[in-house]
Amino acid sequence: MSASNDLESTEREALSALEAAPSLDALEELRVRILGRKGVVKGLVDRIKDLPAAERGAYGQAVNRLKGAIESAHRSRLEALKLQGEEPQGFFDVTLPGVPPVRGSLHPLARVTAEILETFGKLGFRVARGPEVERPFYNFDALNIAPEHPARDPAENFYLEETAAAAAAAAGGGGEREPLLLRSQTSTIQIRVLMSQPPPLRVVAPGKVFRPDTVDATHHFQFHQVEGLAVDEGLSFSDLKTCLLLFAKDMFGEDARVRLRPWTFPFTEPSAEMEFLCWVCHGKGCSLCKQMGWVELGGCGMVDPNVFEACGIDSEKYTGFAFGLGIERLTMLRYGIRDIRLFTDNDVRFLEQFE
Ligand code: DAH
Repeated sequence: MSASNDLESTEREALSALEAAPSLDALEELRVRILGRKGVVKGLVDRIKDLPAAERGAYGQAVNRLKGAIESAHRSRLEALKLQGEEPQGFFDVTLPGVPPVRGSLHPLARVTAEILETFGKLGFRVARGPEVERPFYNFDALNIAPEHPARDPAENFYLEETAAAAAAAAGGGGEREPLLLRSQTSTIQIRVLMSQPPPLRVVAPGKVFRPDTVDATHHFQFHQVEGLAVDEGLSFSDLKTCLLLFAKDMFGEDARVRLRPWTFPFTEPSAEMEFLCWVCHGKGCSLCKQMGWVELGGCGMVDPNVFEACGIDSEKYTGFAFGLGIERLTMLRYGIRDIRLFTDNDVRFLEQFE
């Protein structure tokens, strides 16, 4: 047999013996026999000196490669056997609990949003959605927000084209095409629904909104709202209040209360801020409600006739109410979360608490 045939069969046998070693002891015996001072590999090395000078180089290299392969097979078998631990071969304790797969969980904002949608679902509200990149028509004009209204200011919005163009457009600048923007409110979806669906209708519309606020514990440039809209013949302010009260009871329990305080929004008339009786102290005053007894969670009102007209709906025939809830705020109050940045930090230690 030639020297290289010899090497091949030695390598094959050594590797298969190592891979099959049943225990740490057996592996150590093999190591001594194959790689030890008087082992098989040493024997192969010793042959070098007996070879004709011309063959020594190639043979020496082949032996070195073989030695490397055997050593690495030994190392991996050693690791494998160590991992198996000291358990007797073939023993498997069927009573041990399995390794549970790591389960993900809903983000707290997703969880609260789902609860809100479910609650309004029981009141007959279907879910509507709209795009995050909007035309000013949907974010402002159709919502009765006048061209000179400060809510359109480039400093208050993420316009997607040059600020100069945005500023000119926001100032009503001579028929210039207004640039697209990231929506600053989910009220945009009211317009999209009104323009595509004939009344009577009831929708809730969750979504992300964007405003260039400086980020701190209670502000972020990106947050979430749920918008609500109901349109029918003869809907009144008392329907709005009843609807919000039923929502509050479903969310916080039977003794929930809602109070509406006069406010202004361009797209509702009359408008109100909605406040919920503090569900921790029930009105007595505590740290959650900052001693007020009530917690403000959004705005609402009766749809302004101008909004209906912009969407081609007869404002003599139909009335409607609308509301917008801030999801971060509700979620922070609900779970006692003190910093809005936790929602986007992506720290599993935070997220795992909402299993
Ligand atoms: N879009 C308002 C905001 O972001 C919230 C709001 C107020 C929504 C009154 C409404 C409403 O639908 O009727 O501040």
